[in-house]
Parts: sequence; C-alpha cells; structure tokens
Amino acid sequence: MKDFFGIAPQEIKKVVEGLQQAVADTYALYFMTLNGHWNMECKSFISIHEMLETQYEEHAKTGDALAERIRAMGYKVPTSLKIFAEKSTLRSFSEEAGWEEIIQKLVEANESVFLSLRKLSKQAEKNGDDGLVDLLGGIIRQNETFAWKLRSHLN
Ligand SMILES: [Fe+2]
Repeated sequence: MKDFFGIAPQEIKKVVEGLQQAVADTYALYFMTLNGHWNMECKSFISIHEMLETQYEEHAKTGDALAERIRAMGYKVPTSLKIFAEKSTLRSFSEEAGWEEIIQKLVEANESVFLSLRKLSKQAEKNGDDGLVDLLGGIIRQNETFAWKLRSHLN
C-alpha cells in the first residue's frame, strides 16, 4: 500500500525520508524561535517578541502540514522530542545568548530549512508530484520571508 498517484515506491520512500527530515527541522526551528521569543533581551523587545510569536505559530502549522503529507503518502511520522532532536541538523543557542546572536542563528536556521526544502522540491518535481511542489513552495516562501524579517533587525 505504498502506491501514490503513480509514483514509484522507491521514489516515494526517498521523498518521505526528506519530509521526515523536514518535520524534525521544522520543530527544531519552532523551539529555537520559542527560545528567542521567551529569552531575548533588547531595546526592541516587544516588536521582536511579537514577530517571533507569529513565526513559531507558523512553524508549528508547517510541521503539521508536512507530517500530514507523509501520512497521505502511506508512511508513519516518527514523533518525539528525542527523535526530532536526534534527526535535526539545527543547533539552538543558549537562553543566555545576546539578541544579535539569537537573530543571526534564527536567520541561519530558516535559511538552512528552505535550502533543503528546495532540494526536496526538485525531487518532487521529478516525480511529477505537483501537490508536494506546491506545499513546499509555500513553506519555502514563508521561511524566506521570516529570514528577511529577522535579518532586517541586524542592519
Ligand atoms: Fe508568548
């Protein structure tokens, strides 16, 4: 039962592995953004605090959308904080980090996620999987915007 819209099972498996990685990275990004939202101290605290709230809420929805796509492709979603932490390549900052380091690390984390999603999207495109290309495109655009909004605080 791994057939999905005429895509070869081995191709589906590859894409699902990429999606599982994306789920782990997205929730790692969610926790990093929460860390900044809670622990940042700076003169523009309220505006950054609120911007980060918008971002972590969207990351949570993104993780859910990616996970549900995995289910629609016939696979389960390995889910625990431990699994996400082990699988994700993103490394968070300490709660004692200064605001500039926090912003810089969040910019890099958002960039790292959309760069891997672009690769995954190329794979989906090769499979003729328009639905997944569309889903990933929305997430890529979102994370590009988040990186830009974060980066603008450093200039
Ligand atoms: Fe809050």
